[in-house]
Order: sequence, then structure tokens, then C-alpha cells
Amino acid sequence: VQGGQTALLMFAWQDADSKLRVVVAGSGGGIGRALVDALLERPGVARIYALTRRPDEGAAADSRLEQRQVDIGSDDALEALAASMSEPLDLVIVASGALHSETFAPERRSRDLNAATMLEVLRINTVVPALIGKHLLPLLDKRRPAVFAALSARVGSIGDNRLGGWTSYRASKAALNMVLRNFAIEYGRSHPRAIVAGLHPGTVDTELSKPFTGRVPAEQLFTPAHSAACLLDVIDGLKPEDSGGVFAWDGQPIPY
Ligand SMILES: NC(=O)c1ccc[n+]([C@@H]2O[C@H](COP(=O)([O-])OP(=O)(O)OC[C@H]3O[C@@H](n4cnc5c(N)ncnc54)[C@H](OP(=O)(O)O)[C@@H]3O)[C@@H](O)[C@H]2O)c1
Repeated sequence: VQGGQTALLMFAWQDADSKLRVVVAGSGGGIGRALVDALLERPGVARIYALTRRPDEGAAADSRLEQRQVDIGSDDALEALAASMSEPLDLVIVASGALHSETFAPERRSRDLNAATMLEVLRINTVVPALIGKHLLPLLDKRRPAVFAALSARVGSIGDNRLGGWTSYRASKAALNMVLRNFAIEYGRSHPRAIVAGLHPGTVDTELSKPFTGRVPAEQLFTPAHSAACLLDVIDGLKPEDSGGVFAWDGQPIPY
């Protein structure tokens, strides 16, 4: 994978004559919104379905952008969404996720663990992307290259974990990586040109990271726009043999 390229008009894996149909789930989040904006800069993109809990009144006025208010945690809602899509998809990016909320915070140590919180974090970060894959992977065109990417996190790497803490979030992202690997194997059989990958966006200045970025040096804290540009560069460089892997914002693979 090559990161850091200047933004291309079309993805490297895209067939020259194809017009991309894209889904961004969690499009109201910091990185999700920046991804939608960056994708709208690309003339190769024909349609963006932006899935969100609350449609954004201030979203870019662009006829290619279609906001859909969808409960991405609902099997039924995702089934209805998939049934409403008449054309095959080329790129699905799951940009939803949670580290904290009004009711929970990441655990510092094991005695902070709480069953309800752990289940909720696993639901949001693992079950939701899995359900999105269940309903949208079948919409990828078998004949064309396509990418299904979900935002994971470096802290979901078991091999890279030397600090501990954040058990629910770490476990939810490690489990997400396994879900993605399974999707890659299954769809590698039926859709040989499809690529499934996890992406680490860097440490990005969003609501999700806000309570935890106090000690992050300014140069290591990305704007959502910078992260989105890097992530699209990484997606640009993905090859079928990368399917099932997890890659950082600079294209470097992250160990499981
Ligand atoms: N920011 C970072 O430093 C960082 C680092 C590593 C990984 N990540 C990952 O990057 C992804 C995006 O994070 P972000 O920084 O953009 O966070 P964010 O600004 O908080 O956005 C996350 C979005 O996820 C959706 N979401 C959150 N809770 C949900 C729930 N219970 N049900 C359904 N949707 C829910 C919402 O989308 P809608 O508003 O559209 O409904 C929300 O706006 C996450 O998976 C996160 O783990 C972020």
C-alpha cells in the first residue's frame, strides 16, 4: 500500500470507465463528514449515500450526495436500505464508532469494567460494522474492483498493545479486525476483485478523541480533513492481496 500520494481524481483500482457509488456510514462524525467532503472533490464519484442518525442541514449542496437517516444498529433498517439501492456499490466506508458517550468512558483498569458498557461498546464498534457488511457487501459488483473499509484503531492491535487500559474499546476493535478478515476470506471467493480492510485514521481532532488529546503534540493531532485525505490515499493504493489487513493513515500495515 502506498500512502501520501496527492489526491487522484479516481481510485487506482477503479476501472477507467466506472463512476463510483459510495456509502459512508457515520457521515455525521468528524472523520465521516470529512470523508464525504473529500469524496465530493472527486469527479469519479457519481453518488454518495451518507448514512447518519441525524441528517446534516449544513451538508454540501451537491446532487451526488444523498443523506439517509438510518439506524445502522438495526438489521431491519439495513436490510431495507440495501433493498432500496438499485445500483451496485464500489466503495463502502464505515466511519462510525465510539470511545465514550454521555453514559460511558473508556476503562483505565480492569476494576472499571462494567458489563453494560462493554456490551454497548462492542455493539457500536463491532456489531454495527458487521451488520453493515452483512447487508452491503452483497451489493458490491462481482465484475468490478470494490472496497469495503471500516475505521478500526491502532489500539485494537493485540500485538502492538504495550500500554493496556481501554479494554472495551480495544477488544471491540480487535474483534472488528477479525470480522473484516472473515469478510475478506468469504468475499475473496465470490468477488475476487473486492478488497476488505481496516483503517487507522491517526489521532484525529474529533468529539471522539477530545477528552484524550491533551498530551498529544500538535503535529501528531490530525485535522479530520487531513486524516480523510490520507485515508483516501490509502484506499487508492489497496490491492487485492491487502484484503483482510489493517492499515494506518500512512499506508503502513498494523499487526493483529
Ligand atoms: N478520532 C480519532 O483519533 C480516532 C482514532 C482511531 C480510530 N478512530 C475511529 O474512527 C471512527 C470515526 O471516529 P471520529 O473520530 O470521527 O468520531 P466522532 O466524531 O465521534 O464520530 C463518530 C460517529 O459514529 C456514529 N456513531 C457514534 N455512536 C453511534 C451509535 N451508538 N450508533 C450509531 N452510530 C454511532 C455517529 O455518526 P452519525 O453522527 O452520522 O450518526 C458519530 O457521529 C471510529 O470508528 C473511531 O473508533 C478515531
